[in-house]
Amino acid sequence: MTASIEEQKLIIFDTTLRDGEQSPGISLDAKEKLEIAEQLARLNVDYIEAGFPVASEGDFEAVRQISEQVHGPVITALSRTHLSDVDRCWEALKPAERARIHVFISTSPSHMENMLKMNEAQVLAETRSGVARARGYTDDVEFSPQDATRTPLDFMIEVLQAAVDAGATTLNIPDTVGYGIPWDFGALITYVRKNVNGVYIISTHCHNDLGLATANSLAGVQAGARQVEVCVNGLGERAGNAALEEVVMAVKIRPDQFPGITTGIRTEELARTSRLVSRLTGYPIQYNKAVVGRNAFAHESGIHQHGVLADRSTYEIIDAETVGQRSSQIVLGKHSGRHAFSESLAKMGITIQGDALNSAFKRFKELADRKLDITEAELEAIVAEELGTVSTDAYTLEELSVTGGTVGTPQARVVLSSASGRVEASAEGNGMIDAAGQAIQKATSVQANLIGFAVSSITGGVDALGDVVIQLESDGIKVSGKGISTDVVEASARAYLNAINRLQRALSRREVAAHDVGP
Ligand code: KIV
Ligand code: ZN
Repeated sequence: MTASIEEQKLIIFDTTLRDGEQSPGISLDAKEKLEIAEQLARLNVDYIEAGFPVASEGDFEAVRQISEQVHGPVITALSRTHLSDVDRCWEALKPAERARIHVFISTSPSHMENMLKMNEAQVLAETRSGVARARGYTDDVEFSPQDATRTPLDFMIEVLQAAVDAGATTLNIPDTVGYGIPWDFGALITYVRKNVNGVYIISTHCHNDLGLATANSLAGVQAGARQVEVCVNGLGERAGNAALEEVVMAVKIRPDQFPGITTGIRTEELARTSRLVSRLTGYPIQYNKAVVGRNAFAHESGIHQHGVLADRSTYEIIDAETVGQRSSQIVLGKHSGRHAFSESLAKMGITIQGDALNSAFKRFKELADRKLDITEAELEAIVAEELGTVSTDAYTLEELSVTGGTVGTPQARVVLSSASGRVEASAEGNGMIDAAGQAIQKATSVQANLIGFAVSSITGGVDALGDVVIQLESDGIKVSGKGISTDVVEASARAYLNAINRLQRALSRREVAAHDVGP
């Protein structure tokens, strides 16, 4: 019988940096992961799953740096049951104030036959040895039977019992392929609680293939799970994982359904966390996304507007302030100086100095010349863009000129700066954005195929900043890049160059290929 049901704290285990990073096209470097981890600490998640150290040098390094520098949450990393994997995982986690090793192995017939080529006895033996090895390093060990929802119940219980006996303190039940239905998944959690002896916490890890990840996680909580594994903005393999913001807000808004259960999340940080993750991953937030979408608090019809003006609760169950979705505050204009600029950033919890501050301020001034007021969300976007470019990007955009229209062939000319000086190139395209992309490819000598393009605006209004996300593919590697500007062609060129810079890094590291080791 588990002790977990007596505990009313719901542990928030964030896996944005591990499972979320497995979303197609996302490849975060250590610096970006660190930035997200710091924001997750501000959000006050209980656990940060920082990566899968054996997957690549980059993942190892990111876990190590997060372990060293991020304080508050327990830092976790994923490991297969191989003893050398567990050792490597611990090596990366060692500097953390508090660390957890998360050991997993597949238990479904399909995974065992097709991937592991192991029988039940071998999986049981691997479970025992992997968990015991992890427990030799830390008292906080999580075990996951991968593809649990397609694993025969008796075998799953046997494996879970072996894990607890070998020292696992958290049993995570992954719905790896998003096969669960809420009442069925809830019943599975109840079954585990009844049939696995020992003291442990039960956790959910729900994928969203049927759009049920949040619902399944909540069903798990109702059945006694006291940890949920979630990703910001619902990122993750394929259709993603349960969205952190949705699970947290459901528990908060419906105490009648989750009596006494609380999370430690600072919900006012949700919107900012969501924006940061979106910006660094290049995955846009869908407009109507629950809790953090830009329309989550927008009222279109006259009747709704009338109702909300009379009393917010007529059509809103969440106060926008509670999740950090204030109506855009105007913070700065073109006359604001460097001091006001850095003061405003400090108030938003962003501290930047040196080169990063200089280039963010320069970019702010360029935009303020073209745009009356810069809002908090826009300021955040500018800083994020500059933070992403200062130290790691090989090329920066100095000049862009384009011609196009209904007559003649669209053309573009770019001037880029790099450590080895300025490079210039011109190209034609089937539109001005295409021409700019071709010119950038020529200037950088990086060849890539455009596989995705999305444009949105950061705030409303005629002079809103255009926010462009571009996905490029080259040699099997997919990356995305972001760019912002009041001019959509310029925002596209910036996004294109951002993606090219990332691609160049990824190609030289060849790290992404190592994700083949992945879960
Ligand atoms: O989806 C899954 O099964 C996983 C495990 C490694 C927990 O991500
Ligand atoms: Zn997963």
